[in-house]
Amino acid sequence: MGRAPLAAENVVREERIARRPKRSVEPLPADQAAAVEAALAEGNGDPTRLLVILHALQHRLGYVPATTVPSIARALGLSRAEVHGVISFYHDFRTEPGGRHHVKVCQAESCQAAGGRDIWPALEAALGCAAGQTSADGSVTLDVAYCLGLCAASPALLIDDHPIGRLTEAKVARVAARTRSAS
Ligand code: FES
Repeated sequence: MGRAPLAAENVVREERIARRPKRSVEPLPADQAAAVEAALAEGNGDPTRLLVILHALQHRLGYVPATTVPSIARALGLSRAEVHGVISFYHDFRTEPGGRHHVKVCQAESCQAAGGRDIWPALEAALGCAAGQTSADGSVTLDVAYCLGLCAASPALLIDDHPIGRLTEAKVARVAARTRSAS
C-alpha cells in the first residue's frame, strides 16, 4: 500500500496534537530554544524524522538536554515518553554535556579480533575516564562504537571524527596525551 498524502498526515498529526492534554512547557534558555527550532526545521517538524531532529540538536549543542524533550514532544505531537524513549534507546545520544574532545573506540568484531580489548586499560588510563564517561578535567569523553568503517586498520578509534587505526598500547597513550592537552 502506498504512503498517505503528506497533507493527510499533517491533518492527522495536528488532530493528535489538539487532542493531547495541554501541559505547560518551561521556557528554554535562548541557546537551547534556538537549537531546538533549527533542529525541528531540519526535520521538517515531522515526527517520523525524530532521529534526524535529535541528531541535529546534538550536533548544535553537543548533547540533548532533558529540558528540550517537552518542547520537541509538543512540536511533533509526540508524548514526552516517546521522545525520551528514543533518546535513551540509542547510545549515540548524550544527555549531559561532553568533554572538549570526543573519542569513540570500536568494539566490533574486526577490532576485537585484532586485539582491541587489549588496549582498553591503556586507553582508559591515558584518557582518565571509562567508557561513557568524561574525564574530570573535562578534556575528553570516551564512548564505545560498533564498527567505524575502519576494519582494515583494526583496532581503530575516532577522535573528533578523525580516524586513527592500528592501535597499540603505546600509540593509544600518545594520541590520548595529545588529545587531552589540545584546546
Ligand atoms: S570492526 Fe572496528 S572499525 Fe570495523
